[in-house]
Amino acid sequence: AIQHSFVSRAQKPSQRSYNYVQPRASYKVAILGAAGGIGQPLALLIKMSPLVSTLKLYDVANVKGVAADLSHCNTPSQVFDFTGDKELASCLKDVNVVVIPAGVPRKPGMTRDDLFNINASIVKDLIEAVADNCPDAFIHIISNPVNSTVPIAAEVLKQKGVYDPKKLFGVTTLDVVRANTFVAQKKNLRLIDVDVPVVGGHAGITILPLLSKTKPSVAFTDEEVQELTVKIQNAGTEVVEAKAGAGSATLSMSYAAARFVESSLRALDGDSDVYECSYVQSNLTELPFFASRIKLGRNGVEALIKSELEGLTEYEQKALEALKPELKASIEKGINFVHKQP
Ligand code: NAI
Repeated sequence: AIQHSFVSRAQKPSQRSYNYVQPRASYKVAILGAAGGIGQPLALLIKMSPLVSTLKLYDVANVKGVAADLSHCNTPSQVFDFTGDKELASCLKDVNVVVIPAGVPRKPGMTRDDLFNINASIVKDLIEAVADNCPDAFIHIISNPVNSTVPIAAEVLKQKGVYDPKKLFGVTTLDVVRANTFVAQKKNLRLIDVDVPVVGGHAGITILPLLSKTKPSVAFTDEEVQELTVKIQNAGTEVVEAKAGAGSATLSMSYAAARFVESSLRALDGDSDVYECSYVQSNLTELPFFASRIKLGRNGVEALIKSELEGLTEYEQKALEALKPELKASIEKGINFVHKQP
């Protein structure tokens, strides 16, 4: 048995090894937008999972080559490619997890909300197909603006009569991955030990790392809190600017998304100790959607972890109140988009 690489040891040391000789590969995963900057490396990482039997790749372009290439890796899963509206239904049939990175990424100077006009329609159309073909699947939304695309997906699923709030997730794992990395660097900690919960949403000030809840427990000066918080919030923009027009985070994003897929599969597989942060329907605040740590189980979200929102520092409490109007507006924008459709 070897240690699985996607999952930070800070979360669960005891049940993290898988037997590669006799893999329990039995889950079907679909990626919609599989030929893109995120889709390709994400497909590769999922192809390495010992829990996956079938990997179904869908894109409007270039997916045949990606699938042919990937299919030569001698790992357990079989790879299939699908393209065009007509093949979307067969792509989605029987899948356990659907991951959606379809859509356009940011260019320098753009906010995630600037992507709304294009990505909102893409997510709406794809979720309609998910509702028709695999309503029981876990749905992982990566396409930005996540703060709005997740409410869009919820409304579409409601209209189709198949909404299960426990199975719809906005992928915010990259914010946690970044927070863990930056805190470990700043405090000279072993990266693998660090776990920082990140709550709120996935854009600008709505990304709120709860540094006071860092494990292992570590003290920060006020300046360090301010510096780290801003660095975590701006990390995506830092990548967009460094790529100078060639897209946004794809490699770190794929790593993060693969970790969230693996956690979901472990939960589906009966591991009773799986925790991640994700943007989900929530009653932890007055907002209908909110990212927090969640416990994952066979049926999706088993619990929202409230305790991490208790006993916040004054800085965190203020930041939490400050993010609410923006997050609320993004949620409403998503909901209104679906309802004004013909
Ligand atoms: P990309 O442009 O490289 O790839 C997007 C892919 O989606 C392309 O292959 C394209 O053909 C495909 N696509 C477009 N419309 C489609 C449709 N209707 N059905 C299926 N596929 C479709 O973009 P990249 O870099 O992969 O980013 C994808 C999305 O992920 C963007 O919206 C970006 O903002 C978001 N993102 C989210 C992050 C997060 O933390 N949640 C982090 C980084 C990016």
